[in-house]
Amino acid sequence: MKETILNILQEAENYISGQYLCEILGVSRTAVWKCIRQLQEEGYVIDAVKNRGYCLRESGDILSLHELKRHMGTEWMGQNLYFHDTIDSTNLEAKRLADSGAPEGTLVVADCQESGRGRLGRVWTSPAGCGLWMSMVLKPSFSAMQASMVTLVTAMAVMDAIEEVTGVQVQIKWPNDLVIQGRKVCGILTEMSMEEGRISFIVPGIGINVNNDHFPEELREKAISLAMLTGSTVSRAALAGAVCRSFEKYYADFLEKGNLSGMKDAYNERLVNRNQQVVISDGAGSFTCLSEGIDETGALLVQREDGRREAVSAGEVSVRGVYGYV
Ligand code: BTN
Repeated sequence: MKETILNILQEAENYISGQYLCEILGVSRTAVWKCIRQLQEEGYVIDAVKNRGYCLRESGDILSLHELKRHMGTEWMGQNLYFHDTIDSTNLEAKRLADSGAPEGTLVVADCQESGRGRLGRVWTSPAGCGLWMSMVLKPSFSAMQASMVTLVTAMAVMDAIEEVTGVQVQIKWPNDLVIQGRKVCGILTEMSMEEGRISFIVPGIGINVNNDHFPEELREKAISLAMLTGSTVSRAALAGAVCRSFEKYYADFLEKGNLSGMKDAYNERLVNRNQQVVISDGAGSFTCLSEGIDETGALLVQREDGRREAVSAGEVSVRGVYGYV
């Protein structure tokens, strides 16, 4: 019943009378009032005016199954949708679901992660009420060689979604960090499971700093949130919907071409270190080189200090600017 009342208020452009709600739902005024109170407790701002009824003013940043469904508007991504107030990690949960037969397009979103995971075995701090932590299940038929490109496809999708929802311009730090004003606003962790040489599933996990008003000391210089940039609260549910719609578009292009040729130029235009010196580190050490942009497989084309050119694949490497994070 609460869900129905919320739907009616969200569709309405003006006040809805209490009497109307009672008739439609076949319940008492007290029952309607109880639901209104519950919705207000959940964060919805609802005006209740005598002789006029109820009017929903704003939904702010409410992250719930209802709000996520309302903003999804996709064909397949997020149509099988799970929301958790708290979970260990949305990537872990998406992998568990994928393992037990969840279909392609399954989406897991959480308000808080207790064991959020970052690239290269790092911890991803994921407190409640401020970030968008989400993981998608893909069950592709392409080869494992192509899987690393999914991370870059995801980065493009998130970049467009952030711009659509906030109007803020985003840059990419290869392969998969999104940065604004030189600080990280989003990280992507893509995990894959193989069976008998074939991909059984891929899980791209996305962490976006949305409404954080501060960061722990160690991240303060490196991280930024969308709210810090826009000065206003951003709806995480609207952002999740925009990410999924945009992902469908870029993923379709990637599947059609079998590579990133359709988005390579747009990716390179937004590459934060393009034509600058960067430091690339892998397990074996690090070297400084000129970053020239990605090729259509998503590898970073670089020129070493001795003039040698090579293509660096994402894998377990990290890139940073010569003087800091970018
Ligand atoms: C990085 O190190 O930059 C990648 C961070 C990825 C974090 C996201 S949050 C949602 C999903 N669940 C996780 O445990 N990690 C990813």
